[in-house]
Amino acid sequence: MEKIIDESAQGKPLILEQNQENKRKLFIESYGCQMNFSDSEIVASILAKEGFNTTQNLEDADLVLVNTCSIREKAEQTVRKRLEKYNAVKRINPKMKVGVLGCMAERLKSKFLEEEKIVDLVVGPDAYKDLPNLIEEVDAGRNAVNVILSKEETYGDISPVRLQSNGVSAFVSITRGCDNMCTFCVVPFTRGRERSRDPQSILSEIEDLVSKDFKEVTLLGQNVDSYLWYGGGLKKDFDKASDFQRATAVNFAKLLDMVAERFPKLRLRFTTSNPQDMTLDVIEVMAKHQNICKYIHLPIQSGSDRILKEMNRLHTRQQYFELIDNIKKIIPDCAISQDIITGFPTETEEDHKDTLSLMEYVKYEYGFMFAYSERPGTLAARKLEDDVPEPVKKRRLAEIIELQRQHSEYRHQSFIGKTVEVLIEKESKKSDQHWSGRTTQNTVVVFPKENYQIGDFVMVDIKECTSATLLGEAVEYSKNN
Ligand code: SAH
Ligand code: F3S
Repeated sequence: MEKIIDESAQGKPLILEQNQENKRKLFIESYGCQMNFSDSEIVASILAKEGFNTTQNLEDADLVLVNTCSIREKAEQTVRKRLEKYNAVKRINPKMKVGVLGCMAERLKSKFLEEEKIVDLVVGPDAYKDLPNLIEEVDAGRNAVNVILSKEETYGDISPVRLQSNGVSAFVSITRGCDNMCTFCVVPFTRGRERSRDPQSILSEIEDLVSKDFKEVTLLGQNVDSYLWYGGGLKKDFDKASDFQRATAVNFAKLLDMVAERFPKLRLRFTTSNPQDMTLDVIEVMAKHQNICKYIHLPIQSGSDRILKEMNRLHTRQQYFELIDNIKKIIPDCAISQDIITGFPTETEEDHKDTLSLMEYVKYEYGFMFAYSERPGTLAARKLEDDVPEPVKKRRLAEIIELQRQHSEYRHQSFIGKTVEVLIEKESKKSDQHWSGRTTQNTVVVFPKENYQIGDFVMVDIKECTSATLLGEAVEYSKNN
């Protein structure tokens, strides 16, 4: 999920409206996927009630919290560098307390406290409601840790603060955890078993966003297609559900339909879809509602059946093609993006060529490509040697990135001469005279500001493109305003 995050957001401290009554200062920053950014908003909401105002200055902080990512080794190294920095500041301001949140907290548990002695507080992704108690412990001079993973916690009852967002698009979590056990992936270990959030609490959070004039909501989960609400409980326990629970259960297609129906003016997105769990009824619901964006992030990881099997991705290359064909049949203009891992253990040149040929078939709009990084404790780390030499991984990765660049350009060129609806999100990074927004296909469009405003839907004539962006001119307001 990390692709939705603008690189510049990584590590940027969260700033909330100041409450005069609050006396303590919290510095909170996040790394990794959108779920972490979303969780930090929940944490900030909890701590605002505990007397904390946010600060942008590390040096002023009474409490420093970092929400961490374990997905690849590099992500952990970035956080370690930040911890060194906090500890340098702490030497000047010994009253400052440091806490680690999220996936690294869950993975390394009390190792941070006992062996490394570089933090005061360790809190896993399901334990944020315990923060007031844990901070009390820390205030009393003791270290505190809670890394218990929960069967129920979805934070459905906490309405997260949104002040870091642009006021136009927001993220709403619908599931937590993941049951898929892809052999390379640390998420099932750090975020626990999969559970879905009550649809009523999802609807009321969206209602609140709409009342605050948000125009776009992205439903978030590690595997959204697997969403299943039957009155609470883990996804894996659905076999034990009563007849009533089965009859009233809400799956992802139904949830999407409910949200799209209730908020016809809201642009609706979702991420991430796993091919093995994505069903045709989801694609049909997308086609039925004009306000559901025509874009699916559909990671493939590898084009080789043998590697897919080693990864425990429970579908074949052929099944993936069938899914792509069905999507294109039902929604011809649907954009599709990928995640690919190169150099998974035992990957041969043949396997790599299978990935390239799969990409040629789909011609993805975008992609997020990574060299395999062995994660301790995962099935792949336990069973398979990380045997693809680093230079080979890098070369394969470069080939995949180059092919993706060509495909993105090819897709973008097909927009030249067309008029597309764009939701304006922010000023263009390169020019203060231009707006930046996205089409339903999630493609970034940059165009002169004229009298349009952030949050407007406008029709834009596309004149030029690069492999990353469409360039055009606005012609009129869209009927969605
Ligand atoms: N289902 C999740 C996946 C989270 S991880 C989602 O919502 O996107 C995001 C991507 O990181 C994965 O799709 C995969 O391509 C990549 N990734 C995960 N573990 C990895 C590892 N050990 N090495 C390299 N890339 C990895
Ligand atoms: Fe990871 Fe696979 Fe779940 S990539 S988050 S185990 S779908």
